[in-house]
Amino acid sequence: MADTTGNLDAGDYGIGIPQKSESFFLKGSNHLDWGMQDRLARIFSPRSGRSVMLAFDHGYIMGPTSGLERMDLSIVPLIAHADCLMCTRGALRQVVPPTSGKPISLRASAGSTVLTELNDEVILDIEECIRLNASMLAVMAAIGSRFEAVTIRNLTSIVDQGARYGIPVLGVTAVGKELTRDARYLSLASRVCAENGAHVVKTYYCTPGFEKVAASCPVPIVIAGGKKLPEREALQMAYEAVDQGAAGVDMGRNVFQAAHPVAMIQAVRGVVHDGLKPEQAFELYQGLRDSTEKMSCV
Ligand code: R5P
Repeated sequence: MADTTGNLDAGDYGIGIPQKSESFFLKGSNHLDWGMQDRLARIFSPRSGRSVMLAFDHGYIMGPTSGLERMDLSIVPLIAHADCLMCTRGALRQVVPPTSGKPISLRASAGSTVLTELNDEVILDIEECIRLNASMLAVMAAIGSRFEAVTIRNLTSIVDQGARYGIPVLGVTAVGKELTRDARYLSLASRVCAENGAHVVKTYYCTPGFEKVAASCPVPIVIAGGKKLPEREALQMAYEAVDQGAAGVDMGRNVFQAAHPVAMIQAVRGVVHDGLKPEQAFELYQGLRDSTEKMSCV
């Protein structure tokens, strides 16, 4: 029962001290509601303004691709080193421990595979996304493909539904045989995602011109890693991307297909969060790799 007598009188009003009104650290996100900003601040580090997202949603279009044959063995050891996990609802329920405490960027669109035509997709039920406690909803936008209209409708629809519940949306610029990955295309596709309401955009690194892609996108951009590269080159790409304006990576194959994935994700973190140069990050990778190998010989 509330006490009605003996309470201390309120007196510390801080008269003359203006109430702080902080601006939010991610670009384009200052006017979002509290729940959206809270979810974004779980994904992106307020210290560095960046994120290392681990993408392992490939199975939804590619099946058991290399490195994802047994996600319980390959992905679970990486979870501790990721800021955010990007995966399907299947992988989430099947292998991701609910005790991991990591924010989830849930793959919220699906519909076709590499065996037919990519990008002919529908979106998940928003209640399912809420049930899974998604922190972000990832939807493909196949700009310039014959499924452009379908996927932009998916994007706008999930933005509307996510907005009702304070869940931000990741616009994923699509892959596809007919889609080029130059700065002109990627800046158009990224901007279309942002203008249609995406709170974060995932696209590809390109050279030359990535700084223009990042600058002309009014929300944070994260880069996919793409096909597996030698580790040194993948770290170079991550470095160039963040140096030219990316707010981090949403990387899959270049982590889980690396010779030493746990060492690799830590080296990527070094680049994204700690400002390591590619050669320093590669040295970190080699050091972690060597100490893991020594431990396994003991
Ligand atoms: C592509 O749409 C998939 O969603 C992947 O998550 C994405 O391509 C990132 O993975 P990777 O770094 O292997 O390209």
